[in-house]
Amino acid sequence: MMNFKDLLTTTVFRSVRRTCLPCIVLAMTSISGLAGAADDVPLGLKPVPVPKDNPQTAEKIALGKQLYFDKRLSKDNTVSCASCHAPELGFSNGERFATGVGGAKGGRSAPSVINSAYYRQQFWDGRAASLEEQALGPIANPIEMALSIEDAVDRLNKISGYKSQFQKVFGTDANPDGIAKAIAAYERTVLSGNAPFDRYKAGDKSALSEAAERGRKLFFGKANCAACHSGSNFEDNSYHNIGIGMDVKEPDKGRVAVSKLAGDTGAFKTPTLREIARTAPYMHDGSLKTLEEVVDHYAKGGIANEWLDEEIFELRLNDQDKADLVTFMKEGLASPDYPDHKAPKLPE
Ligand code: HEC
Ligand code: HEC
Repeated sequence: MMNFKDLLTTTVFRSVRRTCLPCIVLAMTSISGLAGAADDVPLGLKPVPVPKDNPQTAEKIALGKQLYFDKRLSKDNTVSCASCHAPELGFSNGERFATGVGGAKGGRSAPSVINSAYYRQQFWDGRAASLEEQALGPIANPIEMALSIEDAVDRLNKISGYKSQFQKVFGTDANPDGIAKAIAAYERTVLSGNAPFDRYKAGDKSALSEAAERGRKLFFGKANCAACHSGSNFEDNSYHNIGIGMDVKEPDKGRVAVSKLAGDTGAFKTPTLREIARTAPYMHDGSLKTLEEVVDHYAKGGIANEWLDEEIFELRLNDQDKADLVTFMKEGLASPDYPDHKAPKLPE
């Protein structure tokens, strides 16, 4: 059994104690359609946007965490969300393409779930408008968990420990809406901040090593990375063609499939760079194995194609510069408070 009091203390009361009332009100009014924000976040992060109809509660988060780790949500009980978004692998999976039920593989790599709460849209092409909208997709997807949502609901309602939690949290048996909301609430707690970069920004100039500090200057300066990897989550909630995969015969066209704007051809969502050292291989197609390869890709000006973003151009970086950029990402954006979540005890 989860210890309800502990959970409540850490996730709800702490945030109230640390938060000023006017700030809550401000946050509530500034983000339309959102009830407010979970303010108890690590140093350097913004309050987490929370939808009006899915407020964070300790019991809902605990339920969502169980669902996230539960392989019974897949057809043959072998795959959970955590199989492809594993805490020990940066909430990604270390493979070029994710492997679902029966060894099925898709054509895109599993992005990290860390800080996904901050994205305005989900998926590499942004086709889901929220974490709630995203959450049911992989359960039913034949190359991921391959279990129909009706069957998933049936299975959960046959497990008394789930049935009673759904009753407690939502006042109903398990249903698709509740599953999506609980998983999304849990994902909003998978956060990484308080990295050396954040402490440096907060005034501790010793937080970055000399190499990482040189890399930071390049990142925000002549390497032009912050043109897209900007703000507290190192992403701009936007889509760009940086040339990845554009040199194959039938490129993945990315965002254009959703936006229908020709300019979005080959464009993908700018991903966060927090905890980036843990989530190799990189890019939507997992084609770059190391951060060194990533920096080389940018240094040579990406891969030329008709839709290449104008912020991608050949950079004048020497070997020292490249190494320093990598050090900044590896050291500067890795948190000592990494969300090293363990699978919870699952209900019977
Ligand atoms: C078989 C591997 C696999 C499983 C299982 C899986 N995912 Fe994913 N997930 C992926 C891949 C691949 C993508 C990217 C797909 C795309 O962008 O088209 C993705 C994308 C996401 C995203 C979007 C992140 C972003 O940066 O846009 C979230 C959130 C997510 N998954 C959560 C989940 C949850 C919750 C579950 C369980 C219900 C789950 N995933 C199960 C492989 C998987
Ligand atoms: C024009 C916008 C833009 C600029 C400038 C830019 N990036 Fe990116 N970055 C992106 C996009 C978009 C992706 C995902 C592309 C894809 O998968 O096709 C990405 C992906 C990455 C990834 C892989 C992330 C992952 O989870 O797989 C890393 C690392 C990265 N960028 C680092 C950098 C660095 C370092 C610089 C500066 C040298 C930089 N970026 C400049 C937009 C940009």
